[in-house]
Amino acid sequence: MRIIKVDAIDSTNSYARELFRRDPFEKAVCIVAKEQLKGRGQRGTHWNSRPGQNLTFSVVLPKPQVSLSHQFLLSAAVATSLVRTLRLLHIPRLKLKWPNDIMAANYKIGGILIENSVSEGVLAASILGIGLNVNQTDFGNLPSASSLKLLTGQHYVLEEILDKVLGQIEKDFKEISDSNEATIMEAYKKKLFRKGVASTFQRADKSFFTGIIEDVSLEGLLTVRTESGTQEVFDLKEVRLCF
Ligand code: BTN
Repeated sequence: MRIIKVDAIDSTNSYARELFRRDPFEKAVCIVAKEQLKGRGQRGTHWNSRPGQNLTFSVVLPKPQVSLSHQFLLSAAVATSLVRTLRLLHIPRLKLKWPNDIMAANYKIGGILIENSVSEGVLAASILGIGLNVNQTDFGNLPSASSLKLLTGQHYVLEEILDKVLGQIEKDFKEISDSNEATIMEAYKKKLFRKGVASTFQRADKSFFTGIIEDVSLEGLLTVRTESGTQEVFDLKEVRLCF
């Protein structure tokens, strides 16, 4: 895969989107930044990462063979690819917190921000933005954040980890299409954090409730069985798993 390395940039996702918009290309390209000045996270949050200590990169995937309504498949596939890579590095207790936080031993070690470019009703490109905490050891006021180094005591060479992640993504994405959606979703759900156990959730109106995660659909919707025994289905904006 072609890799574009930059020192400081607002956001690799924004850069990737602009690159593809200006001059669309046919093969996957990765943009990796030492530092992001305006790194973006899910739900409009910031992604903070110490310069040079972690991986912050985006993979632009032209024409993914996935229908618009099933674009969650891309999210599930990239999250699963990351878990596969990290498993080979012996990172402990890897899980995926819906929709696609990378968890290890109950800590968040990575996040994914997928942004799709749509043209005439089909996906023209998908931008897979990945932040992976690698060598950072101080997360200030984020007690639930961790890194590979904090978990294993080892220092990692960023280029080597990037190489492994990209290799796994390239391999897994060869097989991605609507036709093998069941396999992709199965692999994702197998790693789902707190599936089948009672957890605390917060609704958009800030109220809390207890429930059990039962399923995630191809559209990326989360099914929870609430305390009262009813099944509720949520999208990303409607609920947060507090655990
Ligand atoms: C999350 O909120 O968990 C998702 C975080 C995604 C961060 C990555 S870092 C590389 C890419 N560029 C961005 O601005 N965001 C993503």
